[in-house]
Amino acid sequence: MEKKNLDWANLGFNYQPTDKRYSALWKDGAWQPGGLIDDPFVHISESAGVLQYSQTGFEGLKAYTTEDGRIVCFRPDMNAKRLADTCDRLHMPRIPEEQFIEAVDMLVKANAAWVPPFGSGATLYIRPFIYGSGPVLGVQAAHTYEFRMYCCPVGPYFKGGVKPLTITVSDYDRAAPKGSGHIKAGLNYAMSLYASYEAKGRGFSENMFLDSATHTKVEETGGANFVFVTKEGKLVTPKSSTILPSITRRSLMYVAKEMLGLETEEREVPFSEVPEFVECGLCGTAAVICPVGCIDDHGKEIRFPSGMESFGPVLQKLYDTLTGIQMGRIKGPEGWVHEIIA
Ligand code: PLP
Ligand code: COI
Repeated sequence: MEKKNLDWANLGFNYQPTDKRYSALWKDGAWQPGGLIDDPFVHISESAGVLQYSQTGFEGLKAYTTEDGRIVCFRPDMNAKRLADTCDRLHMPRIPEEQFIEAVDMLVKANAAWVPPFGSGATLYIRPFIYGSGPVLGVQAAHTYEFRMYCCPVGPYFKGGVKPLTITVSDYDRAAPKGSGHIKAGLNYAMSLYASYEAKGRGFSENMFLDSATHTKVEETGGANFVFVTKEGKLVTPKSSTILPSITRRSLMYVAKEMLGLETEEREVPFSEVPEFVECGLCGTAAVICPVGCIDDHGKEIRFPSGMESFGPVLQKLYDTLTGIQMGRIKGPEGWVHEIIA
């Protein structure tokens, strides 16, 4: 199969329609059989639940070309499970895990020409989502839904690749206690847009959100979880019921402990402790691991000893190991790499 003629090494993180997308409809109380379609547009009621009351949730995962030419993706079962949690909280019908994984397989196979070659620095980003398509007027759940999935080739999420970022502590709240912070609801991202616009306008790459109840504990950014390294080399990540349970972060914590023999800790992280860490990073599917070099706290700078030029040694090792597993160079735990094309 001939690859598309793209400048793979210079792709940004942008939408680009590819040849096929997957669609399945929910109506009369059940998911109908799904399949691939050509049309990149959707046709829904002007009063659709998603348009009026933001009834939508999504996922993000990536497919990779391995060194020996296979196409694989990373832990799609985890995305299927998290999408089911999102559906429950937004009162949408769950998509069964088998159907989710079958859709990933069909989509990637049909768009194999768009999967970036090994070593290009790019990957295929897969975006599954479910939304209320049927009309509502009173505040209520829609009566019909679409489960859809598209994919596009992407480069780094942050401009400049893996150069350490400078981020800022936000005065806005991202998610309320017992709200929707722990699921991947579109509304969480709408809530982060203005805060992100302000932060970027002030020259920062991202916001660090603190817990909305006390504004004293580290939560996450608009699209990634935090990991920190202590002076003793321990990997620490914030524990909170209002952050998204990142699959990348959970995988990193496992890799750190079980494969690299590091001490790990998931616990509340008071913001006051941040200056004591020696490395800081953002992690997520889109972000992979991005080092943070500096945090602006209302005009006061917290600078990590790892500096503004590159990763610190612990996050570098974690980055190499995780991407090595994802790209098939390093053998990871059983079941983490899902083969789509042998
Ligand atoms: N936190 C938020 C708010 C996100 O949107 C994402 C992206 O999915 C993450 C964390 C990272 O999660 P994952 O590693 O599962 O992609
Ligand atoms: C991801 O990492 O998959 C995300 O969804 C983050 C961002 C693009 C919203």
